[in-house]
Amino acid sequence: TTGEQIEAAILGQLQTSNIDNSVSWAEENGLERKAVESVIKSLTSDETVTAISSTSVAFKLTPAGDAVLASGSPEFHILVTVAERAAAGNPVSAKDKEAFAAQDKGRAMKSKWIKVDKASGNLVAVADVGEVVDETKVQLSKVFTGKSEEVAGKVMKDLKKRGFVAEVKTVSYAVSKGSNYAPVRQKPKTDLTVEMLASGEWQSLKFKPLNLKAKGRPLTGGYLHPLMKVRTQFREIFLEMGFEEMPTNQFVESSFWNFDSLFQPQQHPARDAHDTFFVSDPARTLTIPADYMERVRKQHEVGGYGSIGYRYDWSEDEARKNILRTHTTAVSSRMLYELAQADEFKPKKYFSIDRVTRNETPDATHLAEFHQVEGLIVDRNVTLGDLIGVLNEFFKKLGIDKLRFKPAYNPYTEPSMEIFSWHEGSGKWLEIGNSGVFRPEMLRPMGMPEDVSCIAWGLSLERPTMIKYGIKNIRDLFGHECSLAFSRTATICDMTLERHPPASAASS
Ligand code: PHE
Repeated sequence: TTGEQIEAAILGQLQTSNIDNSVSWAEENGLERKAVESVIKSLTSDETVTAISSTSVAFKLTPAGDAVLASGSPEFHILVTVAERAAAGNPVSAKDKEAFAAQDKGRAMKSKWIKVDKASGNLVAVADVGEVVDETKVQLSKVFTGKSEEVAGKVMKDLKKRGFVAEVKTVSYAVSKGSNYAPVRQKPKTDLTVEMLASGEWQSLKFKPLNLKAKGRPLTGGYLHPLMKVRTQFREIFLEMGFEEMPTNQFVESSFWNFDSLFQPQQHPARDAHDTFFVSDPARTLTIPADYMERVRKQHEVGGYGSIGYRYDWSEDEARKNILRTHTTAVSSRMLYELAQADEFKPKKYFSIDRVTRNETPDATHLAEFHQVEGLIVDRNVTLGDLIGVLNEFFKKLGIDKLRFKPAYNPYTEPSMEIFSWHEGSGKWLEIGNSGVFRPEMLRPMGMPEDVSCIAWGLSLERPTMIKYGIKNIRDLFGHECSLAFSRTATICDMTLERHPPASAASS
């Protein structure tokens, strides 16, 4: 029987009389209860019919109950066994705990079918197997024949507890004509057309009501990229910790601020064309503070402040070459220089998050541009201990609380530490950042007082974003191969929540 046939049967029935109980009605008409139920639900949706549901509880035998009905209750079997074994000269000892389940044995005793013979200590039958009435079986047969109401409540509870009977709930409906009833269901129209208006047909048609609660279509456009969402998280953590944001709008930088001011020697491999993009027009910068530049030259060539310098001929032309900044430490350097020019030194906590550029061959974990997160604290006598402390606090706010540090080398920091974090998902220590204490060779030529030191750290924004969003290939996150649908559907990123599968390798 199809749904349409059932629908016709129900509507036909309602022409003459209501359906008091859909379950029995279905049975009488040889229809599937479930199929009838779903047609009733559909008919109520447009008020073709009205249906009031009620739930009835029925009982049925479980397979264990069926077995009792077929061959007797456990207590009856005990009586049989006790009698048979006594007759065979192999009586069951009352102490034999294994022979019968205690409960069932208790029932056989209570029914006065068996007892303990004091003299021998054995179980003996006191009732005749052929004559006893197996009450459990009697009650179950009532359930079986649909006369559950004849079983006392307490008894039914016991039968359920013993696993012989199960409860089945059935929902039935009392069905009557609805406000839109018609012997043949009127399918409401979903659209009002020009033709309906022109012909006047609209006046006699039924229309489906507008569903004002339906969800709208997803909007197109105007989505934040996941990387920007993570940037917001980082920014909030820094602000919470009292850091001020540095201006990072200078993507084209001079070699001077990107390298020389950081005491990075001019023959350093990172400076040559393999790692750095040089700008051809304008190729040279004009604005380097002259006196400071001279102090930097001296620092590189012959040293000072306890350092012997690098002992080479420092080239002003090299320092003036314009490049795309390779790290945001160039920004830190400018800010520290500004700070050192003030009449009176003021401690500062600075951060930045922005793009840097490196001449890398793109692969799954590298692009020629990425975002750096950078933080620094400049104050009198800040130490490596402060750095470790602040890194622990910072990463804790990112949901990372197991850190390890490994000695490393940067031209501008001493000591320097790579930062590793334990990643539960991959069961590995992952490198997540780089840090250190800025060298006096960098700070003193700027004019920083001798007792002022600066701790700093940097990491990529892409790496934690890939970890948090479970992205394996950086090109799926950033650049022209990135899927727009991803940024449309990506959720906000709570850094403290664990944790998507990890990205396979570093991105800085
Ligand atoms: N500039 C370093 C990099 O690009 C990061 C860093 C920042 C290291 C500050 C130490 C101190 O990897």
